[in-house]
Amino acid sequence: MIDFRSDTVTRPSAEMLEAMMTAPTGDDVFGDDPTVNALEELAAKMFGKEKALFCTSGTMTNQIAIKVHTQPGEEVVCDRLSHIYNYEGGGIAFNSGCSVRLLEGDRGRFTAQDVIKNINPNDPHYPRTSLVSIENTSNKGGGAIWDSNEIGKIKATCESLGLPLHLDGARLFNALVETNQSPQSLGKQFDTISICLSKGLGCPVGSLLIGNDDFISKSRRVRKVFGGGMRQAGIIAAAGVFALNNNIERLKDDHKRAKILADLLQMQSWVYNVIDVDTNIIVSELSQPDDQKKLIDRLGLLGIGCVGFGPGRIRFVTHLDISDDDINQCEDLFKKI
Ligand SMILES: Cc1ncc(COP(=O)(O)O)c(C=O)c1O
Repeated sequence: MIDFRSDTVTRPSAEMLEAMMTAPTGDDVFGDDPTVNALEELAAKMFGKEKALFCTSGTMTNQIAIKVHTQPGEEVVCDRLSHIYNYEGGGIAFNSGCSVRLLEGDRGRFTAQDVIKNINPNDPHYPRTSLVSIENTSNKGGGAIWDSNEIGKIKATCESLGLPLHLDGARLFNALVETNQSPQSLGKQFDTISICLSKGLGCPVGSLLIGNDDFISKSRRVRKVFGGGMRQAGIIAAAGVFALNNNIERLKDDHKRAKILADLLQMQSWVYNVIDVDTNIIVSELSQPDDQKKLIDRLGLLGIGCVGFGPGRIRFVTHLDISDDDINQCEDLFKKI
């Protein structure tokens, strides 16, 4: 199977497994796991922040951040395509008791002006706006990268209004390598950052929440309440240390392969249009939208995995376990559709 369903399907490499097998461990709920501590220090330092917290998933890091930044009855501002709204099981309402103000951005990206227009007045009729969250790259936006200048304007807007700015950076490193930006520069633009280790970076599990000391202390308590305190977690944290040291720059290879695959898809009669490819996500609009399921099944029978991505659309994602040869094979396999 050439598995383009997601960049979460990667399996740990032999070197990553070796790092995991030899990692020193301890009880992380007691703060005793040296490998978890090393990973958290590495991530915090990378982004120029005080502290980081190792969690099981990007959903958990985002949901903890929202819980810490808000009080029940308040409102979170985010794009209508955002993962925190669409794909976290209604967690904003369930965990934090907040409502959501959805912005109509361009492929998941909105502007500082959009934020300004959607802040509620200081009037008890309205929920108090208490958090702005952006997603870079935007998954449902087809891997779209945010303009760093616009993020700067959003940050300035949030600061002037006393609002924290959170980044769902599940695929942040894809944006950073593509735009040659440093994590430190991004670190300055956000109060809190979530990054995933289990997507393009190739780890079997894990995400990190990054912020200042006070925020991470509060987050540690919420992680415990959410059942996310882990014991000898160094085994999986070791994969994270390995990934942050070895698997970032190579994301550029995934982006090159994504562009080649996009060109191939654009040549197929069953594809009407391929959305611009910025990073490792390719979204194709189908010529016969109603044939979506049939097409995904047919591709599956030919050994190509992809997923439906809204009506009449399919998504392919390139990652660590997709090679040049896999892309070349697609050229022949697509002819059999
Ligand atoms: C943009 C974005 N944020 C958060 C997540 C959640 O990550 P996890 O699957 O680790 O909960 C995902 C997962 O695909 C994602 O794409």
